[in-house]
Amino acid sequence: MATSCGSCCKIAPSILNADLSNLASECQRFIDCGADYLHLDVMDGHFVPNLTFGHPVVNCLRPHIPGVFLEMHMMVSEPEKWVEDMSGAGADMYSFHYEATSDPAHCIRMVRESGMKVGLAVSPDTPVDVVLPFVDTVDLILVMTVRPGFGGQKFMVDCMSKVKFLREKFHNMDIEVDGGVGPTTIHECAEAGANVIISGSALVNSDNPRQTINYMRNIVNEAIQKGSLER
Ligand code: DX5
Ligand code: ZN
Repeated sequence: MATSCGSCCKIAPSILNADLSNLASECQRFIDCGADYLHLDVMDGHFVPNLTFGHPVVNCLRPHIPGVFLEMHMMVSEPEKWVEDMSGAGADMYSFHYEATSDPAHCIRMVRESGMKVGLAVSPDTPVDVVLPFVDTVDLILVMTVRPGFGGQKFMVDCMSKVKFLREKFHNMDIEVDGGVGPTTIHECAEAGANVIISGSALVNSDNPRQTINYMRNIVNEAIQKGSLER
């Protein structure tokens, strides 16, 4: 993935609701359909009321999809605990929640030192300005558009004010949206200024994921072009 670039659209499927018994082939299928990278949701049953998988799965997956950029969305308490293991397993980006740690700056430093890129995520109930002190030290801000924990939830349009707030301040920052994003909600995300799009069930359930990815990419690119003309 390119370094921070609010003028580049990136589409990354979340494989949370895919057929996890065929994880490697599901990942490859999305890459073959034009995905820029993959978003892997790690849940610990503590920070969120659900469980998924951890670094041993990433370790097994990595050799099947060499060169594919893997973002770990760490929905876990004490995200500091897994930085080294995830890096060792071959993860490329570690996106952790502001709410999950008592010292985000320390966690950011740990992730940087491990060699991974850093994402800082905020849940819907968290005001967006908490990320401001950290913006210069992260690669991406992840604005959750559902409550973290489950795929297939309804997109929370209220969260778009956070994306707008960030985009007005930071024209070139990577701003990611995650949760309930698909062809019916992409317009709101694009207009608000999101350039990194996570989409789970909309892509997993699509009859033609390539077309769905292209469609979302076109909407985001149009909004990026419009935004840069207006500035
Ligand atoms: C929610 C996860 C999301 C989500 C995406 O906790 O972080 O990545 O599963 O899936 P959809 O697009 O189905 O909401
Ligand atoms: Zn996610």
